[in-house]
Amino acid sequence: MGDRSLNLLMVLTLLRFAPLCLCQVSNEACLHPQFYQRTCPQVLQIVKSVVAKAVAKETRMAASLLRLHFHDCFVKGCDASVLLDSSGSIISEKNSVPNRNSARGFEVIDAIKSAVEKQCPQTVSCADIMALAARDSTVLAGGPSWDVPLGRRDSRGASLSGSNNNIPAPNNTFQTILTKFKLKGLDITDLVALSGSHTIGNSRCTSFRQRLYNQSGNAKPDSTLDKFYASQLRAKCPRSGGDQNLFFLDFVSPTKFDNYYFKNLLASKGLLNSDQVLVTKSQASLNLVKKYAENTELFFEQFAKSMVKMGNISPLTGVKGEIRKNCRKINST
Ligand code: HEM
Ligand SMILES: *[C@@H]1O[C@H](CO)[C@@H](O)[C@H](O)[C@H]1NC(C)=O
Ligand SMILES: *[C@@H]1O[C@H](CO)[C@@H](O)[C@H](O)[C@H]1NC(C)=O
Repeated sequence: MGDRSLNLLMVLTLLRFAPLCLCQVSNEACLHPQFYQRTCPQVLQIVKSVVAKAVAKETRMAASLLRLHFHDCFVKGCDASVLLDSSGSIISEKNSVPNRNSARGFEVIDAIKSAVEKQCPQTVSCADIMALAARDSTVLAGGPSWDVPLGRRDSRGASLSGSNNNIPAPNNTFQTILTKFKLKGLDITDLVALSGSHTIGNSRCTSFRQRLYNQSGNAKPDSTLDKFYASQLRAKCPRSGGDQNLFFLDFVSPTKFDNYYFKNLLASKGLLNSDQVLVTKSQASLNLVKKYAENTELFFEQFAKSMVKMGNISPLTGVKGEIRKNCRKINST
């Protein structure tokens, strides 16, 4: 056999096994955007239309759905564990510190699931629905689009401790936040780009009060917070009480997915401590913030990449997990 035909044989062999290689030899998950092409071709359209209806009714819902996917993926992987209600041996993640009185959008996920179940019973996972809803929400708010790899299955359990410990807290240090991302296989570029989600949505007073009154136990506000912005915040976020009062994460364009979040950070007007530390505690992170503040396209491109990466955190595939009928409870066996 000549060199040429040998090469051809090798190429053909590689092509034959390529899909298998990508999924099984490397650590890469077997998710792919066409997963439901044969079994539920309408799913993308159904999710998009229910999300669009919900966001038309309440703009903030786009932010809430985007965040839900994050809070799912950081706990046992993107497996819809965040959606389970307490029942039997399951202790719901909805009661964790990051989620309690804060995570929302569960009714919208229920509405999507029931619309999808009507067309394609027991076919599409709740975890995939959340990944699609996060993408559609981003697009509706004016952000980038991307193909969502699919094929996740749903967990048969939840982890309250995982929710409390793995999801970064707004008063965690920069290093702690970065470590929590690295534990999920995400790097500093993903951290900065994904924090750009805070270009939409709201925060409660309780999530940033410490910065306004007593940042480091010396009874002084955070010195890295703009003084005028701080005084405006104090007007509606008093020293005590008003814990649930709501504030825009991006006060310039609170419902538009753009790069003002990064511009605000450079003007010392990030709302959360975890936002502001991206420019005050790490030169590498500051450089990324500057890049995204200058160039929306770069931000959008990286955001889409990082969302796919986050969506790939430890999915259940193959025979692991199940396709829940109701996103709030595991199937009875
Ligand atoms: C980097 C570490 C992060 C921290 C410490 C953090 C913390 C927070 C906090 C404290 C809130 C306000 C919650 C409240 O007071 O009710 C919030 C809201 C939000 N977060 Fe994050 N977050 C982080 C990363 C992310 C990521 C990676 C995403 C998405 C990919 C995200 C998306 C959102 C959205 C969209 C909202 C607004 C939700 C709404 O209005 O319902 N965050 N975050
Ligand atoms: C961070 O906030 C939590 C919840 O409010 C609080 O229990 C904890 O003491 C705070 N940690 C620091 C380092 O301030
Ligand atoms: C500020 O916090 C420190 C330590 O957490 C506490 O001892 C002090 O009493 C607080 N001061 C005020 C004015 O709240």
